[in-house]
Amino acid sequence: MTVIVTNSYDDSCLHAARMIREVVSAQPHAKLGLATGGTPLPIYRQLIAWCKSGELSFANTRTVNLDEYVGLQGNHPQSYRYFMDENLFNHINIDKANTYVATGLGNPEESAAQLEAKVYEGGVPALQLLGIGANGHIGFNEAGTTLTAKSHVEELAASTIEANARFFDTAADVPTKAVTMGMKGILAAESLVLVATGANKKAAISGLLMNDVVTPENPATFLKLHKNATVIIDTHLADLIGYQY
Ligand code: GLP
Repeated sequence: MTVIVTNSYDDSCLHAARMIREVVSAQPHAKLGLATGGTPLPIYRQLIAWCKSGELSFANTRTVNLDEYVGLQGNHPQSYRYFMDENLFNHINIDKANTYVATGLGNPEESAAQLEAKVYEGGVPALQLLGIGANGHIGFNEAGTTLTAKSHVEELAASTIEANARFFDTAADVPTKAVTMGMKGILAAESLVLVATGANKKAAISGLLMNDVVTPENPATFLKLHKNATVIIDTHLADLIGYQY
């Protein structure tokens, strides 16, 4: 695992955006694995800026997203399809037909099976972008998940529902289930880039960076098994966990 400690969250996002730019420039037909949540937003803003200035083209890029809430239609403002359209796809020159976010409607098991196929269709992602939940969840792989888990329907942890309630009117409006890529598919990507910031990620990132333990109780620790994983944190988070840089 490569650990990058930057001076600020903005710098972390710029670093991640540059890593994505490198992949898209070198392999215009590459598939990108994308993530939602608040953390990657500045990364997407940077990619949009480069696309608008003509420095980067997504004309032949394909994408697959980590997860989607069960029960939300793609035009629901809190659905991850809507999030991706609003925060990235609508502003870059990507062919929407080449973007895949699992459907939240219909049979969730079928949606998970479709997502699993999309992870591998035409080759695995050259780069999978990741955020991290406060409890260490990756995508929506909660504590207790396995290394071999394929895309599946996940029952969200109470803490995840609480953390994501900020995007909904009330916590009761947060879906309790999601379709998520499993750890197997996530780890299949050629490279992984995880960005984390903020004090609420302290315990999860400490488990990832401060020991050699790999445990399903902190799914992020599975990244230790990947041959090309980069974790990008800022000095504030590094200092909080006592990481030397
Ligand atoms: C959700 C998403 C994850 C994301 C996490 C953290 O649970 N499914 O992919 O990493 O939130 O989000 P944030 O970046 O807003 O802290």
